[in-house]
Amino acid sequence: MNREDFPMLKQDIIYFDNGATSLKPNCVIDSVTEYYKRYTANAHRGDYDISLQVDAAYETTRILVKEFINAKSSKEIAFTSGTTDSLNKIIFGYFKYHLKAGDEVLLTRSEHAANLLPWFELQDEIGIKVRYIELDEDYRVTLDNVRKAITPKTKVISLAHVTNVVGDVRPIKEITTLAHDHDILVVVDGAQSVSHMKVDVTDLDVDFLAFSAHKMCGPTGVGVLYGKEALLNSTKPIIFGGGMNASFDPDGTRVYSEIPTIFEAGTPNIAGVIGFGTTIEYLNKIGMDQIHAYEQELKDYFMKKIKEIPNVIVYNNHSESGIVAINYDGIFSQDLAIYLNKYHICVRSGSHCAKILKNEIGIKNTTRVSFYFYNTKAEIDRLIEALKNPNIKTDII
Ligand code: ALA
Repeated sequence: MNREDFPMLKQDIIYFDNGATSLKPNCVIDSVTEYYKRYTANAHRGDYDISLQVDAAYETTRILVKEFINAKSSKEIAFTSGTTDSLNKIIFGYFKYHLKAGDEVLLTRSEHAANLLPWFELQDEIGIKVRYIELDEDYRVTLDNVRKAITPKTKVISLAHVTNVVGDVRPIKEITTLAHDHDILVVVDGAQSVSHMKVDVTDLDVDFLAFSAHKMCGPTGVGVLYGKEALLNSTKPIIFGGGMNASFDPDGTRVYSEIPTIFEAGTPNIAGVIGFGTTIEYLNKIGMDQIHAYEQELKDYFMKKIKEIPNVIVYNNHSESGIVAINYDGIFSQDLAIYLNKYHICVRSGSHCAKILKNEIGIKNTTRVSFYFYNTKAEIDRLIEALKNPNIKTDII
């Protein structure tokens, strides 16, 4: 779909590394360039025309994001540098001050480092306890296992909507209903979901959501921290400086801005935020449901074809997203990625920042193939052909 919009696709490459980042369409590139060429000024600091134009464009993106995820108010949308930044701001700005020693946070072993390391830090800092929801035999989160993991001390469940290695889609709505019945808050890492499906925070009733623009055809260095208004109102900023305060005095008396600008200290990634607005308009035009359905079609096609190669091990036969983790029997995952590069096929290999997933799938490294709407069945055929090469093991060298 829409391949002609992507200048990167004019090169002879097959880009199957969309879990890491996505390609950018011309309209987004132009929107970023336009800011630099035609109306460069800081945001929220000037009283001249181009500065006001910047403010308007920046705030338009906030409204577009609010509508895209169906938040109740644009006050609930803060711009960050990405999912990692958003999660850190949530964990160290809200939970650090609302949890106490002995409180439990439930995670899973398939989380990305960004949703594990900050919690480990908080565990050391204030004595909370990190516990894990058991995964089923397909590495999925079942409601039953969430129920089993909940104790009277559980205060937060923090998990990815879609995981970045095995690509399972978590039943977030059912999890938030269960969690809220027990007065537990739910933090969702939407890095691999918001780009691929309709995510409605009001319907899902999530308390916090973090995601990145760059995985959804947007610029790098821009992310979103969504939080319910009441929760954001009691979240402290963790970065202090210009743009997030109303006043301060020599004795240290200070008044900070209201949400969401209180979380946006310093000059933000203005070009990126403006480009992100164009990104959302672009995705809206295509339609998130269409994107999701087309990716499903690609994934089903790939799963059918990959079964023709007995030497390929697939780790997530039953996951619902466009992410597939594989290995080729007897070939180290990074060697496989380097081999595929000879055919201009871009995939990612390694642990994919989910370093404790190995305890579940029994293997440290995989080669990950991740699709987006601009991929095609013909590209999948080329990947399959490369994997079917009878001399693959000698050609690796
Ligand atoms: N989190 C990104 C990935 O899964 C970088 O590749």
